[in-house]
Amino acid sequence: MKSQPNPEASTGAAAPTSPDIAMILAAGQGTRMKSAWPKVLHEMCGRPMLFYALDQILALEPKRVLVVVGHEADKVRQAIADAGYDERVRGGVQEEQLGTGHAALVCLPEMGEDPGCVLLTYGDMPLLSVESLRALLAAREEASDAHGRPGAAMLTAVPSDPRAYGRVLRKSEGGDVAGIVEEKDCTPEELAIREVNLGVYALPGPELVEILPRLTPDNAQGEYYVTDVVRHLFEAGHRVVGIPVDEREGIGVNNLAHLAEARCELQRRILEEHLLAGVAIEDPDSTYIDWGVEIGAGTRILPCTVIRSGVVIGADCEVGPFTHLRGGTRLRDRSEVGNFTEVKKSELGEGTKAKHLSYLGDTTIGPGSNIGAGTIFANYDGVKKHRTTVGARAFIGSGTILVAPNEVGEGATTGAGAVVTRQAGIPPGETWIGVPARPLRPKARAGTGPPPETARPVPNESDD
Ligand code: UD1
Ligand code: MG
Repeated sequence: MKSQPNPEASTGAAAPTSPDIAMILAAGQGTRMKSAWPKVLHEMCGRPMLFYALDQILALEPKRVLVVVGHEADKVRQAIADAGYDERVRGGVQEEQLGTGHAALVCLPEMGEDPGCVLLTYGDMPLLSVESLRALLAAREEASDAHGRPGAAMLTAVPSDPRAYGRVLRKSEGGDVAGIVEEKDCTPEELAIREVNLGVYALPGPELVEILPRLTPDNAQGEYYVTDVVRHLFEAGHRVVGIPVDEREGIGVNNLAHLAEARCELQRRILEEHLLAGVAIEDPDSTYIDWGVEIGAGTRILPCTVIRSGVVIGADCEVGPFTHLRGGTRLRDRSEVGNFTEVKKSELGEGTKAKHLSYLGDTTIGPGSNIGAGTIFANYDGVKKHRTTVGARAFIGSGTILVAPNEVGEGATTGAGAVVTRQAGIPPGETWIGVPARPLRPKARAGTGPPPETARPVPNESDD
């Protein structure tokens, strides 16, 4: 992060205060996404981008959080509720999307005459850091003028590509902000300005309440711009300070290319966190780990591996190369999942290995088991998914198909290519072979029983 005030230093010993109201604008149509799905619900690393914005805001412990919804409001509200945010978040509805200033205006009834400090931001800015937001709030507190009139603060950046952001007009270089001009309204001179608006503002509430109804849509897009609040504050003699932050925090998502770019940055942060916590990720460039994955120290993640949200991996495990772990998967300590193996909603016990070419879906496997190459847990009967359990120290031979629901007892073995039909249930310690799989009987005693089996379970691999 560049040239950011130290929040502790700027406010003395106490940390900067929380905002009274935090407002997130999330009602826009997102037409540039060229997608019917609401923009703020597009996912990054396993969850909607709006949730990252919400988490940043909630970390500041505002007294109230207002989310303005509008386009596909029901879907956005439902997602907020499903994720459990609804207890902490209230909403306004912007029926017609007439611009960011109009979206903020929708919250007027919630604000009263003096809403205190209002932190206003957008639902398409998922990469802001809580530290930058705290610095913003601290800067606003410092921005009162000589007469004690409250000021405002906003985040800016100087990116290599201004990507159609609003340009920041300063009174003088490094001086206070006098206004923001949207790219479509810029003169050629304004277009050349390199400092851009990130759309994150800490505003004095009473002034905001007074200015919002006075915004007008006299601009190139015919919209009510919340950015004009800054010009109004400046014209009324209030100070507005601009706080520059690292441009990577300021990736606003307006199209799918931005979404991919923001995802890459978020992925970089997630991987860095795991690396610093003792997870050895051999090739971060080819490793995809979603938000919210837990991984114990000492675990190695080998290249070309995808780990989705909701996966929990213990310590000293090995995952990859070319492994896909999906939601609901839990790998206990020292377990290993390797080449071209997909695991979904399954638990692998301590030290259990599934190292090659397998699909493990809806299964619970005890500790110390070995799942041979090419094993398939056939969990889907065309209508419903079913579970299979495998006990401790089982040995599942290469190419086994276990049709769910099923149960393989502790210490049981299957021969290579066995097809264990649904609900067959292999008792502990038994060896089953063939298609359909049946118990491998001890050699028949002379004159009794069926002819001896010729097939034998062939240990199909070493366990490495
Ligand atoms: C906005 C800023 C721009 C800034 C950029 C940073 C304005 C006018 N411009 O432009 O200065 O550089 O963000 O990312 O504010 N929204 C509504 N209702 C509406 C319109 C938008 O709720 O009627 C919401 C959208 O859902 C979105 C946010 O406001 O989350 C920003 O709108 P968007 O259209 O993405 O603005 P930008 O063009 O990115
Ligand atoms: Mg935007």
